[in-house]
Amino acid sequence: MHLTREEEAALSGERGPAQRTAMELLVALGDLYGADRLIPITRAHVSGVSYKTIREGGLKWLKELARDGAVVSVPSTLNPCGRDPQHWEEMGVDAHFNQRQGEILKAYASMGLEMVCTCTPFLIGRSPNFGEHVAAAESANCIFMNSGIGARTNREGAPSALAAAIIGKTANFGLHLDENRKAQVVIEVDLKKEKKRPDFPVIGTVIGEAVGTRVPFIRGVRPGDDELKNFGAAMAAWGSLSLFHVEGITPEADEQSLDGLERIHITDGDVAERRAKLSSARLDEVDLIAFGCPHLSVEELIDIAAFLEPRERIRPEVALWVSTSKVVAQSLRKEVQVIERFGRVIVDTCQVVTPVENKHKVTALNSAKAAFYMPKEGFGSQRVCYGATEDLLAWISRPAAG
Ligand code: F3S
Repeated sequence: MHLTREEEAALSGERGPAQRTAMELLVALGDLYGADRLIPITRAHVSGVSYKTIREGGLKWLKELARDGAVVSVPSTLNPCGRDPQHWEEMGVDAHFNQRQGEILKAYASMGLEMVCTCTPFLIGRSPNFGEHVAAAESANCIFMNSGIGARTNREGAPSALAAAIIGKTANFGLHLDENRKAQVVIEVDLKKEKKRPDFPVIGTVIGEAVGTRVPFIRGVRPGDDELKNFGAAMAAWGSLSLFHVEGITPEADEQSLDGLERIHITDGDVAERRAKLSSARLDEVDLIAFGCPHLSVEELIDIAAFLEPRERIRPEVALWVSTSKVVAQSLRKEVQVIERFGRVIVDTCQVVTPVENKHKVTALNSAKAAFYMPKEGFGSQRVCYGATEDLLAWISRPAAG
């Protein structure tokens, strides 16, 4: 990979040990994937924030980088961490975890990352423009930036996203290149029963599994913005893709040529079969209902509050968590108050990266991404029950008397 004199200087350690570490990482990745050079990025999004996922090894590495003077050189946001700053005890997080989480955030703060811990930075104005090159970790965020916005990013890991943030550049390969953004398979979604209200998270799981790493061109559905976010998160969790095109919706769809591509059909039967398989528990076994994977938008939070407002709580033994960014929560104080008659609006974290297993065993959710991760050891070992938002809210509420 060709390096400029300035990049060579950083790699040799002339700019200090933190820049050297970051350059070593970027060069190793670039060489591995055949990049010709480093290219500038306009922003970065860094994962590896929860103590649950990075543990002592990750914390040690971050502290060393911070001690070595690492500072980000482009606007950089953080993924959710492992606890809500206010409600961590109530959520079952212990004091040791909370203390370690604080050290992780302190290390990132000293490097200049913005302390907004969310997987949907694009919902709060921390968003690139069409065509901009960025380094984005977090699969749900990465796939939305590529597909919904038309920015260009590979699916970064936590260290590579941080290295790119420090240098302000990333290696030029993968989805930064035009040729890798072309559709490779056509998905014909042919729904008759579910045509009016397609279950985008479930359809996303079917597509993700069917395409693997290929870029799909999807026809037959018209997701709105929030649906596109939840659709992409499911595809990225159940497959390994980081870009999809939807006919008439996503910004690069018009440029695609579909000649000679394989075609895969998805029917009501495929969706119903997958939905049935997502759940490993019944609703009457659930002790937690968790929404917000990915973090909820303003509109999604308003919809939940509007459903709950005329209702009263039943089944108080079932907890409710609604995850979003603190920017969204702070902008909707009235709606947060309504929801908090029924449960908690939690910020800076989510049901997957907080130690949910400390307090809960069976979680109901409306997210196919969370349904993929939460049963896994290391992400909560939960039995899960997948359902529509309103059906799950109706389980813990009823129309208020009078
Ligand atoms: Fe976001 Fe947590 Fe889901 S980071 S995409 S809410 S697993």
